[in-house]
Amino acid sequence: MNATTMSYRFILVEHRGAVTVLTVNRPDKLNAVNRATFEEIGHAVQAFIDDDAQGALTLTGSGQKAFIAGADIGELQPLGPSAAEDISRFGQSVVNLLEQCPKPTIAAVNGFALGGGCELSLGCHIRLASDNAVFGLPEVGLGVIPGYGGTVRLPRLVGQGRALELVLTGRKVKADEALAIGLVNRVVPQAELMAEAEKLALTILRNGPLAVQAVIESVVRGGSLPVAEALRFESGRFGIVASTEDMHEGLQAFLDKRPANFRRR
Ligand code: COA
Repeated sequence: MNATTMSYRFILVEHRGAVTVLTVNRPDKLNAVNRATFEEIGHAVQAFIDDDAQGALTLTGSGQKAFIAGADIGELQPLGPSAAEDISRFGQSVVNLLEQCPKPTIAAVNGFALGGGCELSLGCHIRLASDNAVFGLPEVGLGVIPGYGGTVRLPRLVGQGRALELVLTGRKVKADEALAIGLVNRVVPQAELMAEAEKLALTILRNGPLAVQAVIESVVRGGSLPVAEALRFESGRFGIVASTEDMHEGLQAFLDKRPANFRRR
């Protein structure tokens, strides 16, 4: 495997072929995200978007105990109203970047995904969980509310009633329940998590890259539009894809009874 390692202070970024593995690396704080960590995640995701050689990103946490145990509580403590709103907007912008990324983003949740950690996973397009994963938005117990999109994305994923129950009680959800309520796509043994995430990324990467991008745009953008507008948006993307060599190659490969050979740009 052609692996390249770049270094940041609070995250690790590894290129495994066309798959970028972004690991939040503050194990002594259970990978809690302070502002500097958020800045690094934002920088690394933007670098991934800009790198034509990279096709998919997986987000995980270092160690076997935590994905990300939330925003750094020590850093939140001294915030006044204006700074709190500012940090919420900043964190949201990083989570938005993951969600609006034109290439697939996969959360490989390897343990506690609490508060901001749960919210970062909600920003990813797909969530895989290890069997020891625990999800939760426990903010109300700290006298605050989720500020990185949790109150917006969790209800869209699991339904308003379930989301309200979880956010209002702060109750933590183990992997099997997370799977049952649709919070995660799949649960796998912890030892297999990163291999499964990479396998999933590679499965997506075998498909037409422009079609993959158009699906993400249609689903993500469509999710925030009224149905009629979302359908128009989908038709627009369908039209754009029809003008690409990817569609020509994909259809021709089927007719020729051979695997498609899509070009990564
Ligand atoms: N912010 C800052 N530090 C955190 C943290 C967070 N969100 N979550 C964990 N840590 C730190 C702990 O303070 C501790 O540091 P220390 O060794 O310097 O005291 C270290 O990580 C290990 O955590 P600890 O609580 O000792 O581990 P545990 O196994 O007993 O409990 C959790 C694990 C995840 C249940 C517990 O750490 C926790 O509840 N964390 C906060 C989760 C949360 O509320 N997140 C939302 C924040 S808005």
